[in-house]
Formats: sequence, C-alpha cells, structure tokens
Amino acid sequence: MQLRSLRLTDFRNYADAAVEFRPGLNLVVGRNGQGKTNLLEAINVLSGLGSHRGAAGEAMVRQGAERAVLSGTGSAGGRDVRVDAEVKRTGGTRLLVNRVAVERMSASSSAGMLVAVAFSPDDLVIIKGGPEERRRLLDQGAARVRPLGATERQEFERVLRQRTGLLKAASTSHRALATLDVWDESFARAGAVVVRNRLAVLDRLRPEVLRRYRSVSGQAGEVSVEYKASWLEPGTASAASEEGLRAALFDALAKARSRDLERGVSTVGPQRDDVEVLLEGADARLFASQGEQRTLALSLRMAERDLVAANRGEDPILLLDDIFSELDEVRRGHLVEMVAASGQTIATATSGAGWPMAVSQTLTVEAGRVLARE
Ligand SMILES: Nc1ncnc2c1ncn2[C@@H]1O[C@H](COP(=O)(O)OP(=O)(O)O)[C@@H](O)[C@H]1O
Ligand SMILES: [Mg+2]
Repeated sequence: MQLRSLRLTDFRNYADAAVEFRPGLNLVVGRNGQGKTNLLEAINVLSGLGSHRGAAGEAMVRQGAERAVLSGTGSAGGRDVRVDAEVKRTGGTRLLVNRVAVERMSASSSAGMLVAVAFSPDDLVIIKGGPEERRRLLDQGAARVRPLGATERQEFERVLRQRTGLLKAASTSHRALATLDVWDESFARAGAVVVRNRLAVLDRLRPEVLRRYRSVSGQAGEVSVEYKASWLEPGTASAASEEGLRAALFDALAKARSRDLERGVSTVGPQRDDVEVLLEGADARLFASQGEQRTLALSLRMAERDLVAANRGEDPILLLDDIFSELDEVRRGHLVEMVAASGQTIATATSGAGWPMAVSQTLTVEAGRVLARE
C-alpha cells in the first residue's frame, strides 16, 4: 500500500500544498508549529478514520475558510486509488473513493482503500487515560477489520441517545416509561453486537501485544488485555456468545432501571466499559512504571498495525508523529525494525539526524509549505 501524492487546500495551516511521497521512509522535518502533525492528520482523514488526534472537523478547516479539501492518490490492493475528502466548517466530512461517495467510517474497512496506522507520543493515554481511550482503540479496530463495524457502532450510539431521551422524559410522561421496555431490548441487541466486535478485536490483538511487548522490552513479561464490563461476570467476557451478551445486558438494564431513571443516564452498557491492560497480572494504568507504560502503548499500536496488515494482506501506511525523539535506544531499535519490515512510512521529526536507516526522501515543512530536499 502506498500513498503517492497528497494535495491539501485550506486544511489547518495549509492554504494550498502538494506533496509527493516515495516508497520506504519519508521523513518530514520542521520546527515546532510548522505543520508536521497537520500533514499526518490529513492522511489519516483520507483513510476514513478522521483526525488521529481526535479533532473535530471544524478545527481542521483553515481559519477564514469554509471548507478544507484533501486529495490523495496511491495504490492499495494492487490497484490505483484516488481518495478525496471535503471537511466542512459547519461539521461533517464527505469522502469519495475513486470519485464515488462512500460512508466515511465504513470506508476504513473497504478493500482498495488507503489505510494508515498512526503512532504518536500521545498514545500513552491508551494506558494512562480514561476508559474512552481504550474503547476507541477497539471500536476503531472493529471499523477497520469489519465492513459493518462502524455502522453497528453508530446504531448503538443512536439507541443510546434514544434511551437517554426517554429516561429524561419518563419523569413526566407515562408513555415514555412504557416505551422504555422496547428500547431496552434494542439497546441490549445493539450493545451486544458492539461488544462482540470489541471482543473479536481484543482476541486478535492479545497475542500480537504480547509478542511485541516481549520483543521491545527484551523481557519475558506477561501482558494481557481483558474486557471489563460491570454487567458481565469477571473473566467471562471472552467466552460469551452474542446471545449471552444480549441476555446479560438486558438483565443489567432491568436492574439499573430505577437508578437510570433517577439520574437520567444509562449507567450500564458498552458506553461505560473498559479494557484492562495487565502487566504481570496487575493493572498497568496503576502499577506499571512510566517506561513500561510507554512500551505497552507502543506495543498496542504495533499490534494494531499487525492486525490491519493481516486483515488486508498488505502493510498499512505507518504515520510516526514525533515519536522517535522520545524513545530510548532500545525501543528506537525496535521501531526502526518495524519500519524497515513495513512498506511505506511517513515520519515527522524536528531534526533529520539520527535515523539509523535509509531515508527515501526528506521533506521540509515551514509555515504550511512543503519542500522536497535531497
Ligand atoms: N484551523 C487552522 N487554521 C489555521 N492554522 C491552524 C489551524 N489549526 C492549526 N493551525 C496551525 O498549525 C500549526 C500547528 O501545526 P502542527 O502540525 O501541529 O505543528 P508541528 O509541526 O509542530 O507538528 C499552528 O501554528 C497552528 O496555529
Ligand atoms: Mg506535531
């Protein structure tokens, strides 16, 4: 898989820029605040997953402009591909693959699409941040490997919003209260599908995380990732069928009903679940050292890369955002190994020095302008 050209119009601090990429390692160098991360963000938007730093569409449109337009060409699945994206200031992204409009989130799993996996120093939040960071990893994973993954997630979000609305209305309306039974059934059904998708991703990530962690840390550490849901018996998640998940969720909703009505929110369900990252059996968020946490975060991203590569039968584009500088010698070595064994990489750094491997080209970014430098 390869990105050949990228054109950005009114995206972040780029008024109008065109960039050509080469196979192998493309190094993007520039001082802070010049537009390096913005460039990688644009590539991530074209892959259908939105901003890798979770920015809203509006934030990505250049100040003073109404819409940003991105366009990328390259090859995927042995074919040429062209992807166009339009990000509106008023919200919403339109995506065209080979000039045909596609549903944005579903695009990330479709064959012949340019897909990227982004690594950033912020990845530490996967370990240190709140549960939503870890849920995002699984939900994005499901969207990447399962054609319906994104749609199924959206369906659950829709039912969740409906149920919240009913909970709030129920205090004054008997009809709302009566409708709640029906919505609990829909909630349990849609929720079970989302959790089943997450568990499937987790099952595939688990061995890769372990392998990557052992390799990067050089230690025989025990690493595991376990799904944690208040509505499931501990340790039963991975063996549960979709039907079992649905029944357990439906029961939990019934038990939580009076509390949910009181608070006007759904207090149990996939929107509250978490993933526990365990190092030697202990929650890494609480017990692992900073260095171990960093290695775990890196291993999780590498595992995500492995998952996408296995699913596609080819290497995704790697986006490394300023990650090299903050790693120690050993972790750097493993990162370099991964880059060398992968197809195309686009990496940013404040300096071009210190890469112990062949660089295909170095690009310089200055105030939203990109220059090729030999
Ligand atoms: N919507 C926007 N419109 C114009 N400029 C923006 C927008 N969003 C971010 N910027 C500018 O982009 C620059 C940061 O770019 P970034 O890619 O994060 O830098 P770095 O090279 O350090 O990674 C800042 O100068 C910021 O003001
Ligand atoms: Mg940056």
